[in-house]
Amino acid sequence: MEFNELRVADLLHGADYNPEQWLDRPDILAKDIELMKEAHCNVVSIGMFSWSMLEPEEGVYQFEWLESVINNLFDHGIYTILSTPSGARPPWLAQKYPEVLRVEKNRVRNLFGLRHNHCYTSPIYRDKVAQINGELAKRFANHPGVILWHLSNEYGGECHCPLCQEAFRQWLKDKYQTLDALNQAWWTTFWSHRYTSWDQIESPALHGEMMLHGLNLDWYRFVSHQTLDFVKWEKESVKSYNPHLPVTINMMYYFYGINYFDTKDLIDVVSWDSYPVWHKAGTTDLDIGCDTAMMHDLMRSIKNKPFLLMESTPSMTNWQNVAKLKKPGMHMLSSMQAIAHGSNSVQYFQWRKSRGASEKFHGAVIDHYGKSDTRVFREVSELGIRLEQLSPLTKTCNQAQVAILFDWENRWAIDDMQGPRNIGMHYKETVQQHYKALWKLGTSIDFIDMNSDISSYQIVIAPMMYLLRNNFEQKLKAFVEAGGTLVTTYWSGIVNETDLCYLEGTPHGLMDVLGLRSEEIDGLFDGETNSASPTTSSWLTKDKTYTCSQLCDLIIPSTAQTLMTYNEDFYQNKPALTVNSFKEGHAYYIATRFEDDFYDEFYTQLLKETKIYRPLDIPLPEGVIVTYRDGYLFLQNFNHHEVTLSALPTTYQLIDSNQDIYHDFILQPFEVIIIHE
Ligand code: GAL
Ligand code: ZN
Repeated sequence: MEFNELRVADLLHGADYNPEQWLDRPDILAKDIELMKEAHCNVVSIGMFSWSMLEPEEGVYQFEWLESVINNLFDHGIYTILSTPSGARPPWLAQKYPEVLRVEKNRVRNLFGLRHNHCYTSPIYRDKVAQINGELAKRFANHPGVILWHLSNEYGGECHCPLCQEAFRQWLKDKYQTLDALNQAWWTTFWSHRYTSWDQIESPALHGEMMLHGLNLDWYRFVSHQTLDFVKWEKESVKSYNPHLPVTINMMYYFYGINYFDTKDLIDVVSWDSYPVWHKAGTTDLDIGCDTAMMHDLMRSIKNKPFLLMESTPSMTNWQNVAKLKKPGMHMLSSMQAIAHGSNSVQYFQWRKSRGASEKFHGAVIDHYGKSDTRVFREVSELGIRLEQLSPLTKTCNQAQVAILFDWENRWAIDDMQGPRNIGMHYKETVQQHYKALWKLGTSIDFIDMNSDISSYQIVIAPMMYLLRNNFEQKLKAFVEAGGTLVTTYWSGIVNETDLCYLEGTPHGLMDVLGLRSEEIDGLFDGETNSASPTTSSWLTKDKTYTCSQLCDLIIPSTAQTLMTYNEDFYQNKPALTVNSFKEGHAYYIATRFEDDFYDEFYTQLLKETKIYRPLDIPLPEGVIVTYRDGYLFLQNFNHHEVTLSALPTTYQLIDSNQDIYHDFILQPFEVIIIHE
């Protein structure tokens, strides 16, 4: 498989570059190039917010400044990722065509302002965007310095304008064909909500309908669809001038509103913007590292190919509650972590700090001070030097035998359902608990959704698989039949694709695979706990008791073997963990939400049972994580203190230096070393 979609054989290192802010300072533009070379940068992303400088008046294009910047960069060996400017439109456009502005849930149209404040349905907005994109593509799509299109910026948000209402109704008509089918799917007979005409249907609103789960879910789907339809529109507007120039969109941290798995066939390269709150009081950098690692893995999994880290901060992030500096070494660690999980780049927002407006205090490679003798610049350059030595990585990608289900539609449905726990179902956090145990064990992990092919994995983990779609339960059944290991949990197989509860027992379609039926589920208040202990037949440590909380499923096993039972309440001694042998495979059912330690033990044992590959299978100090990218092992120290790797089985040579390491090797705070397997 070809893993690198770009014409560049090196890892990319660079930043969002917004030179339109400095056109009256040619000295600064010249200095930028000099400093980019000094920082070992080879790429910049340009143009995401340039619309008013590219088209100052309707139909009047001024691209000369951009062309001269791109040429100049290219002459100095720096590539351009060219952005389309649709993420922020100029005032003249909003003033002349108010329909381009977004209408909020309350049905009030926004004034001009901010960015990302436009309707994805508006034909005028689409036309204006296609026009400027076309002009840009005509001029630059075949420029040797331009390697990638960066479509818009961080697509997101929803619009409730009349055009969007009409598009929603059309989308529903295409989906359901008849109102009878829609009424049935949404169960509208309850509370006398039966629709008798399509134009009675309105998007969810706080002062209107918001209790019809089927409607809410379809609205989420529609918004995601409509946004991606706009992406498609933009893509077509630039591709016609050079179909070979790849496109990306920069995605956001666990962003809720777009089903990112649906971008798989739409875009050529996945990229995302990562702004973890490192060094946050009350949490550990290991936990922040886990949250970030999971997001990297999610991004890589969309196309099962390397992605780009399109933005990150070289120092602080000004929009967070507290703008913490990255402590010395953290920049190296967080950047290398991205590479370890499959990124082919480290890029920043932004190259040079703005002088004014809302992001003037956001971290940047070049501070207002303007020179290179700063701590941040030094750390950025050190990273640049290291990345230059890792070019072979662009031809590799992480491969996993374990997959975890993280399904956007399930996420939307779980958060909207009313009961069994309206104070929080914590879907993402629950998924992350499973992930964390495996991440600490150094296991490579892919993410899947219910459209994914799962046949190549050995373990599939599907926590809180509440909503089933696309016959996913049948895929799971075939997977276990063929010898796979399934791990699923409480609150699975409860509703169908339109949020209608399954009749005749749950987990729907999997009762035989799991060898059990779920009868009731008990919600626990925050702070309330139960606990569970292994049975004599379990392979878990016999004298260990694990605390559980939030939800306790009361199950009736048929063929499943009970591995743990509850210790308290009226369901004391009922199963809390079971396993069932089904044809060639096994299916585990975790009936409650356990504390972290449980998952550590459970997955350590499960990896042994299933003989899943674990790189560097030795005891590592707490806070040291090993990540495996196709032959390369990244050892990352998330501790604020040094640690000793005492049990290295042999001598290794560090990939990017001539140093050898062997037993008792000391890792400095936040240090990352890279070795061959
Ligand atoms: C991103 C955005 C950038 C910049 C950055 C600051 O979400 O794409 O334009 O605002 O945040 O952290
Ligand atoms: Zn709209």
